[in-house]
Amino acid sequence: MQSSLLIGGEWRDGSTGERFDVENPATEEVIASVAAGTPADAVAACGAAAEAQAGWAATAPRERAEILRRSWQTLVEHTDELARLITLEHGKPLADARGEVAYAAEFFRWNSEEAVRIHGSLATAPSGANRIIVHHPPVGVVVIVTPWNFPAAMITRKLAPALAAGNAAVIKPPRETPLTALRIGELLHQAGVPAGVVNIVPTLTSGDWFDAAVDHPATRMISFTGSTDVGITLLKRAADRVLKTVMELGGNAPFIVFDDADLEAAVQGAMVAKMRHSAETCTAANRFLVHDKVAAEFTSLLAAAMGNVRIGSGFDDGVTCGPMINAKAVASITELVGGATDRGATVAVGGGVADGPGHFYLPTVLGNVVPGDEITRHEIFGPVAPVVTFDDTDAMIEMANDTEMGLTAYVYTQDLRRGLAVSERIQAGMVGLNRGAVSDPAAPFGGMKQSGLGREGASEGIYEFCETQYIAADW
Ligand code: SIN
Repeated sequence: MQSSLLIGGEWRDGSTGERFDVENPATEEVIASVAAGTPADAVAACGAAAEAQAGWAATAPRERAEILRRSWQTLVEHTDELARLITLEHGKPLADARGEVAYAAEFFRWNSEEAVRIHGSLATAPSGANRIIVHHPPVGVVVIVTPWNFPAAMITRKLAPALAAGNAAVIKPPRETPLTALRIGELLHQAGVPAGVVNIVPTLTSGDWFDAAVDHPATRMISFTGSTDVGITLLKRAADRVLKTVMELGGNAPFIVFDDADLEAAVQGAMVAKMRHSAETCTAANRFLVHDKVAAEFTSLLAAAMGNVRIGSGFDDGVTCGPMINAKAVASITELVGGATDRGATVAVGGGVADGPGHFYLPTVLGNVVPGDEITRHEIFGPVAPVVTFDDTDAMIEMANDTEMGLTAYVYTQDLRRGLAVSERIQAGMVGLNRGAVSDPAAPFGGMKQSGLGREGASEGIYEFCETQYIAADW
């Protein structure tokens, strides 16, 4: 198991020799000791990326495309090993972890196809005096900061387009899940990514690490996935050097069920939207807005489905929800549920911490949640489904939009015209219409309002990692 820093193609200890423990959240056992990168290591990694970047940018797009395609293939060939690492350090069920590897690898395949299609344009100036040539060179050195909920996919969703466009990267994986990141670094080298193009530096001192990376003169861009609070801090810091940013931040997704919805399909979709990857996704359904004609039936079907979820170690057969990442996460969910029930919500199923060891919370459905309750205003990031009822579409849309977040929304109705009209009125970057999952490397992932800036995936995703240059040409 790789546990050192990857800088300039070499595996090394951190500048102080310090290491930190990584824990399995299902057992609370230490599974590895990983080199702790320092600000000096972040600087060294940015320097290595800067040295490698020009050579990488100068390779033919087809050559980069082929290396990216080999990266996809190498990751897929190591699905089982990577999935086991993900389950070990994150805790999610192995089936979800395998799904994550496929999803993560797909960003390389998609971007291998995009690498040869970074198009500019040529136009005649309206005056007729010259031509306007527009092209898209790479940004330069990109600093990538990722969360623990998708130890593989949140790296590759940024890294694959960054590399396709000709950039070099310095990655700060989360302290909770650095092992998958380091193994991906090793596999990418096997697939032909040149030394220095990808650098990986886990750390215990994120703030100082980030300051050092931002201040490195070669750094030109920050790509971050994580909470809105941290995103705001990073944005302010990035502003000091006017760095380009892509921010994938928090969510507070409404899951809307109309009275004409196919309730069985809605419950199936709800289980995906709420529970995929142990309910720790920023796209997760966070509040269920259900028409009052079907609220009782929907709540009872959802409670039955949540009651059937088996929690436990992601390695155990039949487990469909792993642990929360740490004790703090369980405490935060407990407080949100306690507050909601104090204010009148009823517990349809679950409603408490499961016995340890491990950081487990029982899959929970809350009925009769007061509209606007605190639990509908916080990103729960755990297996809790609060149900609020509505009877008026305009009022429901106002409620759905009454948040600073705007990442994802879900709408269930059998009336496609209504579904599309409502989807267009919801302030969210992504809408699942009669679908509980929206994530797809071929689609633009990202949020409106405080859920983020920029898009990842699709064709849009690659242009985020490009500059735009215009040449006024006369001939
Ligand atoms: C996230 O939770 O940040 C990503 C979720 C996804 O890609 O599906």
